[in-house]
Amino acid sequence: MIEVKPSGQACGAEVSGIDLTKPLDNAQMAAIRDAWLEHHVLSFPNQALDDDGLERFSRYFGDFGVDPFFNPIAGRKNIAAILREADETSPLFAENWHSDWSFQAHPPAGTCLMAVDIPPVGGDTLFANQHKAFDAMPPEMRERFEGVTAIHSAKMAYAPDGAYGEADEEGRSMDIRPDESARETQTHPLVRPHPETGKLGLFSCMGYIIGFEGLSQEEALPLLTELYAWQSKDEFVYRHKWKPDMLIMWDNRSVLHKATGGYEGHRRELHRTTIAAYSG
Ligand code: SIN
Repeated sequence: MIEVKPSGQACGAEVSGIDLTKPLDNAQMAAIRDAWLEHHVLSFPNQALDDDGLERFSRYFGDFGVDPFFNPIAGRKNIAAILREADETSPLFAENWHSDWSFQAHPPAGTCLMAVDIPPVGGDTLFANQHKAFDAMPPEMRERFEGVTAIHSAKMAYAPDGAYGEADEEGRSMDIRPDESARETQTHPLVRPHPETGKLGLFSCMGYIIGFEGLSQEEALPLLTELYAWQSKDEFVYRHKWKPDMLIMWDNRSVLHKATGGYEGHRRELHRTTIAAYSG
């Protein structure tokens, strides 16, 4: 049976006692799913998974999600490369907190990331537990945010004039595909029950959340800023340190995540799949 060792931080656990290069049986899949729902971020060290293995693992937990603003790697429809060359100077990708593709009508339940080329220093991925962030809110703050409907959009990141838009293309090794469709909006409750566990949490944050229904931008902006600072407090954060041959999976309904730097002069590459929204 698998062994699950909690990180001792706000979320996250390391899973051993399993060989992901081989097909999993139902009991193994169920045990991983239970651990994922409990710890929100799972890491699997010492798993030399190729792209077939990454796809096979992801599909145990749902269909592939739709990745709107990345081109997939050659020969695959559902794997994107999170890539930074050793000499790259463009701003770090995904350095702000976010929940993947929260601007979609049915955002992905989870994301898997497989180590391909891990720098010897830096490049940790941070996760912020949004159940803990909600539970710890003082009552007056909770009152202000409960019942609020958030407006999500990818425009600040992926519109042609966004952070990863046309001006950013030169010198970036990642195959990002900005598009006018990034300006579309989608609403989701800010506080919502997790679709599988029912546990309340905060969903997404400023960046993909661009406003709140019924509030002007002037009213929404200070609230978004206050919320972002709260959601990402150190006490809610797990710092994931990468090793070669490591796979991780996280629950976008429970955590925010962000990339970190500190590996200048080194190449970093991870292969990523998304797991579509849970359909029961
Ligand atoms: C991501 O947000 O998908 C990438 C995280 C990372 O590069 O650590």
